[in-house]
Amino acid sequence: MIVLGIETSCDETAAAVVNDDRRILSNIVRSQHDAHQPYGGVVPEIAARAHVEVVDEIVHQAMAQAGAEFGDLAGIAATGGPGLIGGVMVGVMTAKAIAYRWHRPFIAVNHLEAHALTVRLTGGGDGRNVAFPYLLLLISGGHCQLLAVEGLGQFRRLGTTVDDALGEAFDKMAKMLGLGYPGGPAIEARAALGDDQRFDLPRPMRGREGCHFSFSGLKTKVRQTIEGLPDGALRDQDINDLCASFQRAAADVLIDRCGHALSEFECICPDGGPLVVAGGVAANIYLNGRLKELTDSHGIDLIAPPPALCTDNGAMIAWAGIEHLKAGKSDGLEFAPRPRWPLDPTAPPVAYAGAKA
Ligand code: KG4
Ligand code: ZN
Repeated sequence: MIVLGIETSCDETAAAVVNDDRRILSNIVRSQHDAHQPYGGVVPEIAARAHVEVVDEIVHQAMAQAGAEFGDLAGIAATGGPGLIGGVMVGVMTAKAIAYRWHRPFIAVNHLEAHALTVRLTGGGDGRNVAFPYLLLLISGGHCQLLAVEGLGQFRRLGTTVDDALGEAFDKMAKMLGLGYPGGPAIEARAALGDDQRFDLPRPMRGREGCHFSFSGLKTKVRQTIEGLPDGALRDQDINDLCASFQRAAADVLIDRCGHALSEFECICPDGGPLVVAGGVAANIYLNGRLKELTDSHGIDLIAPPPALCTDNGAMIAWAGIEHLKAGKSDGLEFAPRPRWPLDPTAPPVAYAGAKA
């Protein structure tokens, strides 16, 4: 079975063809980073227009590289939400048109679920299948959540951010430092050259009960620290040290929150399971290294997709589509794109949490 996956929910136009033997036959990602760079973040209208301009070309490239015809597809999957609605509509309409023309099922994929299932495509450390259940740390530009993943579509949210997502904190900090957009890779590179003990930054939520996150206080302290540095252009060493200190603080928070989540997860799933990290920030090698210290101390595996499949891509959408089709699920062409689509709709709202909860 081969499935085409289309991703257009943020600032990447992506399409991929994947088969049910976990092989990625093609994976084309066209990023719009240059278009959003001057604004230090994604501008929804610019994103939607850019998706419209290139989506056909990206889909054809993915099909050609996979050596597949539309008639070979078992289904066409597209991100149906959550995300920037203009972009989501572009991918959904494209997928529906192909599905209608070729009489194939259309699958509306929850973008967060696609991140959550990516390790079942890419496999554990030795390439072996990753089975349910697992504890998921989902860290992206729009979300920061801890979830028990008990089966396909069975998510129990243990924690979420009450303000910024972690990727958002990386991006905002990069903007303050003039490092461009997206911030994560630039900060990781600068941090590798810096002294992570130089600046004393807060560890919001550390030691608190539960598994929620907060990053806005950390961001504010970074801003105040920059303001406290000598006037004039920031020195390279200051930037490097600030990035390193920020990353260390972020890692300390993740370790603390994941530690709490592991205890809760053990109660929900007494047989345990690995800690899976997913979403764009999971591409960060330093953070993964720090999380590995935690999982080693608990005697469990840490599993992350390869960096290129942590950030948004079509392969994860195609794979989620395959999982749905194998479970006998697809969606009608009347499906309406969903700007918000929580993985665990039963999770209680969190005080102060905005639309990202
Ligand atoms: O999953 P993703 O591609 O898009 C969303 O669904 O949000 O995540 C994008 C986020 C951005 O905030 C970006 O700065 C962050 O992931 N990111 C990283 C790294 N690579 C991407 N953050 C930290 N370190 C990285 N190496
Ligand atoms: Zn994403």
